[in-house]
Amino acid sequence: MRTQAKPVKVWDLPVRLFHWSLVACFAGAWLSSDDAEALHQWLGYGALGLIAFRLVWGFVGSHHARFANFVPRPGTLAAYVLLMLRRREPRYLGHNPAAAVMILFLIAMVAVIGTTGWLMTTDWGWGSDPLETIHEGAAELALAAVGVHICAAIYESLRHRENLVVAMITGIKWR
Ligand code: HEM
Ligand code: HEM
Repeated sequence: MRTQAKPVKVWDLPVRLFHWSLVACFAGAWLSSDDAEALHQWLGYGALGLIAFRLVWGFVGSHHARFANFVPRPGTLAAYVLLMLRRREPRYLGHNPAAAVMILFLIAMVAVIGTTGWLMTTDWGWGSDPLETIHEGAAELALAAVGVHICAAIYESLRHRENLVVAMITGIKWR
């Protein structure tokens, strides 16, 4: 019962700042990719820096920020997906196993986009068609994944009658 529920601090401030700054850098890098080269590169480096921070925070951050506490074993993920298909998946206070996989994928994609972007500015990678193909392909894949990520956040919010987007702003969930 929500009336008897108690607030729990789930997402620490660094996780929340990381998330919304990443949203801003990713969206900004996309919107500036056609005709604002310097801004595009700065926002892209910003996204890359945020990913580097998150990889460290995944080992030293608070309980729900740590990879050890949300990256699932394959069996746990498979069991969760099967329950999801039957609309019986349990609610998680931290990231659920499917969300965790999406999160790792988004982190990896932004790392690939940022690294290939940087390489394109070096003597080694300047004018490289394969690098450009990977950079743009990964950006498009990440954009599609973000679409799924947002739909999943809305779906899980409706499913468990809580607002996950607000939780990522305030850091608070209800137990
Ligand atoms: C307006 C758009 C977005 C919304 C509403 C949104 C919403 C959320 C929510 C609700 C969570 C928590 C999921 C959970 O409770 O398990 C989350 C986590 C996450 N999202 Fe998003 N997201 C958005 C855009 C993005 C973008 C553009 C990226 C990256 C390119 C991204 C990457 C992540 C990552 C890495 C996490 C894990 C947070 C952490 O533990 O550090 N999100 N997002
Ligand atoms: C999350 C971060 C990033 C995203 C989402 C992103 C996205 C994109 C997209 C969609 C394009 C294609 C633009 C077009 O041809 O219409 C592009 C091009 C480009 N990006 Fe990024 N990018 C990111 C980070 C970076 C970084 C860090 C750098 C370098 C410091 C960079 C350098 C470039 C360059 C040089 C091009 C132009 C390639 C060309 O058309 O000659 N990007 N980026």
